[in-house]
Amino acid sequence: MPEIKTILVTGQGGQLGQSLQVLVKQNPQYQFTFTGRKQLDLSCSEKIAAYFAQHKFDLIINCAAYTAVDKAEEQQQLADAINHLAVKQLAEMAKKNNSILIHISTDYIFDGTNHKPYTEDNAINPQNIYGSTKLKGEQAIQAIACDAIIIRTSWVYSEYGHNFVKTMLKLGKERPELAVIFDQIGAPTYATDLASSILALVDTLNHSQQTGVSVYHYSNEGVCSWYDFAKAIFEYTNIACNVLPIETKDYPTPAKRPHYSVLNKAKIKQKYSLNIPYWKDSLQACLDKLQ
Ligand SMILES: NC(=O)c1ccc[n+]([C@@H]2O[C@H](COP(=O)([O-])OP(=O)(O)OC[C@H]3O[C@@H](n4cnc5c(N)ncnc54)[C@H](OP(=O)(O)O)[C@@H]3O)[C@@H](O)[C@H]2O)c1
Repeated sequence: MPEIKTILVTGQGGQLGQSLQVLVKQNPQYQFTFTGRKQLDLSCSEKIAAYFAQHKFDLIINCAAYTAVDKAEEQQQLADAINHLAVKQLAEMAKKNNSILIHISTDYIFDGTNHKPYTEDNAINPQNIYGSTKLKGEQAIQAIACDAIIIRTSWVYSEYGHNFVKTMLKLGKERPELAVIFDQIGAPTYATDLASSILALVDTLNHSQQTGVSVYHYSNEGVCSWYDFAKAIFEYTNIACNVLPIETKDYPTPAKRPHYSVLNKAKIKQKYSLNIPYWKDSLQACLDKLQ
């Protein structure tokens, strides 16, 4: 396998894309190219083809996605173009150019009926459009069978963009009381931790071989509900906002979400010798940066 030198990262303006941009400064051995929709619009197959006619990379990290879970119920075609068709095309480019593809997927490909953390080979059954378009993206990679790593993650937050932590900080300062769902159980993922683990994977790929498609699960360690997550955010920031636990049925959203989507990370930890931080420790690190 040729040494990895050139790396394309899509979704430069997103949470994971921005977190990677900060960390790559410590990795001068690689030549990174970051793209946003201006340079590489993933909703347009002609533009993707034109871009790859001009550019070739040893590795592609696809951090771009259509991530507006509720809006996707109405914008099905756009979500499919970005989360499925573009991913298929990236896999085709990777196969043609002999590149490795690292693609990020989601816990929302599961239906949430498990009572113990999901392993990579558990049955998939997405409950919303976002989840089904992300699953089709995964399936396209499997069908094309380029050398690829699919990392499913959950509840991503960071200092950047829109996410649950930033929404809670804003609302918690404005309101004396907030109702937050306690019957959806998952695990938060600090984008910096995921970015750092992806870079560790890239280093390992230089010494080992990636043949075919491998699927891994990644989040921070531990388990919580959105209610517990909100409580921890207010505790660390000393925001005096009372959090009321409510059920999903009392907070209707256009997209159905799984009640339980904790991911089992044993496979990625073992394969890549990763030490994954506990979710509360990473939350503290993110809140320290935000304050
Ligand atoms: N956020 C979560 O809770 C969560 C949970 C599970 C899995 N994931 C997965 O984790 C990955 C990273 O998520 P994230 O939270 O970093 O997402 P994010 O913050 O929403 O960023 C997504 C990025 O995709 C870009 N994008 C959207 N449409 C595009 C297009 N047509 N062409 C090119 N770029 C386009 C966006 O560009 P603009 O900045 O221009 O909009 C943005 O930079 C995604 O694969 C996502 O599905 C996320």
